[in-house]
Amino acid sequence: MIDNKLTIALPKGRILKETLPLLARLGIVPEDDPDSSRKLILNTSQVGVKIIIIRATDVPTYVEYGAADVGIAGKDVLLEYDGDDLYEPLDLGIARCRLMLAGLAGNQKVDGRLRVATKYVNTARNYFAEQGKQVEIIKLYGSMELAPLLGLADQIVDLVDTGNTLKANGLVELQTIAEISSRLIVNKAAMKMKQDVIKPFVQGLAEVLEK
Ligand code: ATP
Ligand code: PRP
Repeated sequence: MIDNKLTIALPKGRILKETLPLLARLGIVPEDDPDSSRKLILNTSQVGVKIIIIRATDVPTYVEYGAADVGIAGKDVLLEYDGDDLYEPLDLGIARCRLMLAGLAGNQKVDGRLRVATKYVNTARNYFAEQGKQVEIIKLYGSMELAPLLGLADQIVDLVDTGNTLKANGLVELQTIAEISSRLIVNKAAMKMKQDVIKPFVQGLAEVLEK
């Protein structure tokens, strides 16, 4: 097992792209280009500070178990995560979008229970439970927009930014479930045991965001 000063878990994709410039302003620059390298653990310009590149949905797991000290994850992923509490000290304000209920335009007739397709099953279930509505949740792993078009579901719960994907598929926004942005999360034990490294890291990131 690697024993490092600080291990930072980052998801590949848009969050990684938006996070690297923030880390660079803290003087943390990966030694290999994450876009072209096949390495999953990247050394950085700071000795003992490593970046691990993982799936977005795996970030809270690595951080909860302490395999990574800190991580960056979308609020959508954190709302859906079924684990113990993690510290969430900073909203980075990046990868902003909305988690929305969407469906076909016009009043659609629903026979029986409303069927909702989503990869956010826990969040969707909680959302409808709060409204006292019993719905059937259908788990999908992507391309949720297809489901109402093919009659798999009446509505979907998915992320919306520009609205272009919904529009291109003849769907409309129905309700906003949550405003989404990416958060810094911190392992609870590391927050205590590695205070000397984590505190300045959180503070530094907060300062970079203020500028
Ligand atoms: P995985 O690889 O685990 O399937 P993913 O494909 O959802 O993850 P991305 O599409 O890069 O990965 O999304 C990562 C995060 O970025 C999401 O969890 C969400 O917080 C945010 N996000 C997703 N889509 C958008 C969007 N269209 N605009 C802005 N932010 C978004
Ligand atoms: C996300 C999300 C929507 C789309 C919304 O998908 O799942 O499909 O963005 O963005 P828009 O409102 O600006 O069109 P993404 O592009 O990340 O593709 P993915 O399915 O690979 O996650």
